[in-house]
Amino acid sequence: MKEKLQSIREQAIADIENSANLETLNEVRMSILGKKGELSAVLKGMKDVAPEDRPKVGQWVNETKEAIESALDEKKKMLEEEKLRLRYESEKIDVTMPAEQRAHGNLHPITQVRNQLTDIFGSMGFEVYEGAEIETDYYNFTALNTPQDHPARDMQDTFYLSPEFLLRTQTSAGQIHVMEAKKPPIKVISPGKVFRSDDDATHSPMFTQMEGLVVDEGITLCDLKGMLDEFVQEIFGKGTTTRLRPSYFPFTEPSVEVDVSCFQCGGKGCKLCKGTGWIEVLGAGMVNKKVLEGCNIDTDVYSGFAFGIGVERIAMLKYGINNIKLLFESDLRVLKQIDD
Ligand code: DAH
Repeated sequence: MKEKLQSIREQAIADIENSANLETLNEVRMSILGKKGELSAVLKGMKDVAPEDRPKVGQWVNETKEAIESALDEKKKMLEEEKLRLRYESEKIDVTMPAEQRAHGNLHPITQVRNQLTDIFGSMGFEVYEGAEIETDYYNFTALNTPQDHPARDMQDTFYLSPEFLLRTQTSAGQIHVMEAKKPPIKVISPGKVFRSDDDATHSPMFTQMEGLVVDEGITLCDLKGMLDEFVQEIFGKGTTTRLRPSYFPFTEPSVEVDVSCFQCGGKGCKLCKGTGWIEVLGAGMVNKKVLEGCNIDTDVYSGFAFGIGVERIAMLKYGINNIKLLFESDLRVLKQIDD
């Protein structure tokens, strides 16, 4: 009996040692201690042992069982620790590894400038009105004091879709829609695409404008000048100022051409400002009374100013681009460089 127990014990210890994982170890446990296990078979045989030998044999069986159980427990602990270690090993993160480089896109320069302008005017309290790219001749010209036979129509080569409909040549058309829909006080900007049959290094048949319109009681040219000075400092940098030169637009009276002091040379004269210290940036003026009256706005009470900014022109000045085509050719080498 003693030998039998001894051999069970040795075999068990060897099997436990050789178990490579918890599943195998459990199989070993069942084969010895399980209901149909070897040691259970020995215990069942106890009834054949002489009564006087039973205590001693019982003690051997118990010792064997305990030895096997403690070997099993020890091995189990070891295998569990090993399993955990392998898991930690496989899940280890090296926080010092350089991050994976991801290519990211950026907004088109025109979108960037348009957003910058919208943010600046938004912070001054302007609302945004987006008009339609297809307009009627009335909104694009007639209501803006430019009737059919007006010579100012020649200033803009128009793409007509029919005698009545056209691709808007200016976001100024939005002024009329806004004034028809809303009573003063009015303070809106209207950004969008405009179209003209025009094509050279600084002109494109499709380009972007941002119109501005303010109508309220007591609005003067001084309000326009003050707002423009604020605006150019935001977009071109502190210390930049504006000057107004007389000009002509049918829908404003008086009309002005707005120059900005050269932000590259500070006014001393350089290539960018062609030695003059000033750069022309936009057109503006006091809204022509005829235009206000056409929209049923009482000109004895209200006055207003308007301005029109060329978004491509601002982008070209800001980023030193000398050909407008570079903005429309989708050349990533160009577009990637502009990410403000
Ligand atoms: N619509 C003009 C153009 O496209 C620009 C302009 C000039 C807009 C003066 C205005 C303005 O609102 O007051 O050339």
